[in-house]
Amino acid sequence: MASTRDWFESVAEARRRARRHLPAPVFQAIEAGAEAGITREDNVRAFTEIRFAPPRVAELPAQRDLGTSVLGTAIALPVIASPVGVQAVHPVGEAGIARGTAQAGTAMGLSEFASLPVESVIRANPSLFFQVHWSAGRHDLHLRAERARAVGASALILTLDWAFASGRDWGSPWIPERMDAAAMARYAPRLLARPGYLARWLRCGARPDLTVPNMAAAGGPAPGFFAAYRAWQQVKPPTWADIAWLRAQWDGPFMIKGIMRPDDARRALDIGATAVSVSNHGGNNLDGTPASIRALPAVAAAVGDQAEVLLDGGIRRGGDVVKALALGATAVMIGRPVLWGLAAGGPAGVANVFEILRAGIDRTLLALGRQSIGDLTPDDVLLPSGFTVPR
Ligand SMILES: Cc1cc2nc3c(=O)[nH]c(=O)nc-3n(C[C@H](O)[C@H](O)[C@H](O)COP(=O)(O)O)c2cc1C
Repeated sequence: MASTRDWFESVAEARRRARRHLPAPVFQAIEAGAEAGITREDNVRAFTEIRFAPPRVAELPAQRDLGTSVLGTAIALPVIASPVGVQAVHPVGEAGIARGTAQAGTAMGLSEFASLPVESVIRANPSLFFQVHWSAGRHDLHLRAERARAVGASALILTLDWAFASGRDWGSPWIPERMDAAAMARYAPRLLARPGYLARWLRCGARPDLTVPNMAAAGGPAPGFFAAYRAWQQVKPPTWADIAWLRAQWDGPFMIKGIMRPDDARRALDIGATAVSVSNHGGNNLDGTPASIRALPAVAAAVGDQAEVLLDGGIRRGGDVVKALALGATAVMIGRPVLWGLAAGGPAGVANVFEILRAGIDRTLLALGRQSIGDLTPDDVLLPSGFTVPR
């Protein structure tokens, strides 16, 4: 269906609307990748290098089955929302992602850096996986995970694909510690250039909340985003023994996000991970490392059927999802597309993004003559030589 005021027909159009709606620093913060953005670009470009096997013309399945299960949760399509902090994108914050994903019949990751407490977000979508980084000592991480579990988070995601990238060639946007009067005054010219954005916040009587309530010490106040980030930078990176310890604390599905190497995938299996996500944090880990889709086949081969394999990074259409599934993914996660959808249309915009992907997956299965996503195999795609990271 062609785009209308309340509907966008492609993820590219959601991004254009987000760019027009958001103040430049907010849009840029979503857009950014590490350093020159080589990996960020490769995440998207690599999908264009993969082609489909020639389509079939008859005996095509009249109905296609897109449902699957991830981390013990049944989902209507093999796409979930990747954890992202959405501090300034929309006044409804992560609750908007929860409502949009619930409408789409799928699950969401909720970042510890989210602007809303897990207790309120999970009310809008009970299919919620809570995500932490190795951002604190064992005691505090345990408390954070326990808090999420107590309200019903059904899985824990440990993200290890962030290496504190800085020195971005397109410049890091200035983001204030607090949205106080001084910060508002400094932002005023940019806010006035985006009257729709300003009006949306004024209508809600809110201002972007730059605190991170899920990282509060027990009973303490929510720390500021940057204070929490600086504290994380002081934490020693985890060992596999640390990761095994965290896994042992969580009595339920456990995913490690950021696995790009078969040897790390095997270590993840050793510590009992339920799933791994092949990810470079949307091009925000070490710049110049490969697109996540290039690393997927080797990781999927190392994991076999011992765990679920997810992929995130660069998914922009349903066909991209099918390519990832054909190369061994159980499902995929999307980051920026969710944020663009939220900026463009709130919870309905998030649901719109998932509907675009759902329809795209369905059409691709039809053309390939596959009745279900479980029927996809590597024979459904054509890879150029040298595409994959060697096993
Ligand atoms: C603005 C922004 C914030 C993010 N915040 C988090 C986070 O808090 N935790 C996390 O695990 N990943 C975070 N990510 C990474 C995403 O979960 C995901 O790996 C990435 O966005 C996937 O690539 P895509 O944006 O091309 O879909 C963030 C990504 C972006 C763009």
